[in-house]
Amino acid sequence: MIDIDHRNVLLVSGSPRKNGNTDRLLREIERALGERGVATTFAALRDYSIHSCTGCEHCRVDETCTEFYDGMHLLYPLIEQAAGLVVGSPTYNYNITPEMKCFIDRFYPYFHFGKERPGPYSSRLAGAGRKLVTVGVCEQNEESEMRFTMPAMSDAFGAIGYEVVEELAVLGHFAKGSVQGDEDAYARAARAGATLADSLQR
Ligand SMILES: Cc1cc2nc3c(=O)[nH]c(=O)nc-3n(C[C@H](O)[C@H](O)[C@H](O)COP(=O)(O)O)c2cc1C
Repeated sequence: MIDIDHRNVLLVSGSPRKNGNTDRLLREIERALGERGVATTFAALRDYSIHSCTGCEHCRVDETCTEFYDGMHLLYPLIEQAAGLVVGSPTYNYNITPEMKCFIDRFYPYFHFGKERPGPYSSRLAGAGRKLVTVGVCEQNEESEMRFTMPAMSDAFGAIGYEVVEELAVLGHFAKGSVQGDEDAYARAARAGATLADSLQR
């Protein structure tokens, strides 16, 4: 495990659409973090080849994924080093995109399970002061249309050992980049970045 850096944030976009609404909201959060002296890395999952987890369970012994030597191994060191994580996904059919789901499932090597199944489990990323911001964006204007999008990220990363400091759900954006003129959404994104920066100081 790489040493954790408490002034470092990894931002991960799960949108297949380059420079779309998710990317733009994450970039605004990144800008706010930079203003506060926090180092950032932006990663778009569409640029990485990431296999879905097959449940081979080899990682229980190996403590990393030895089934696939793919793009996730480029991200594991960044994940471990950054105390802050920002994950964003558009709503696709009430849920996160397959890219984001695949990314989340590949955190499985960080879990410790005992011999007893089902039984207690813990995460090697927990207890280190890791903080998370989740970002979701969807076309419809009612929050219910997002359905599983926000909990799919927040609940999973909560179990992985991150404290959720902000959930940013942005509604009413369909066209690529339409969020650009949405002052309220940008203000909320900037605030989310500031909240994350402040939380990492503690
Ligand atoms: C396959 C697909 C499924 C979608 N499902 C939903 C949905 O269930 N609810 C919704 O409000 N918007 C839905 N949308 C619209 C997107 O969430 C919306 O266009 C979003 O702004 C895209 O973000 P992006 O530009 O970051 O890719 C869907 C879009 C696609 C392509």
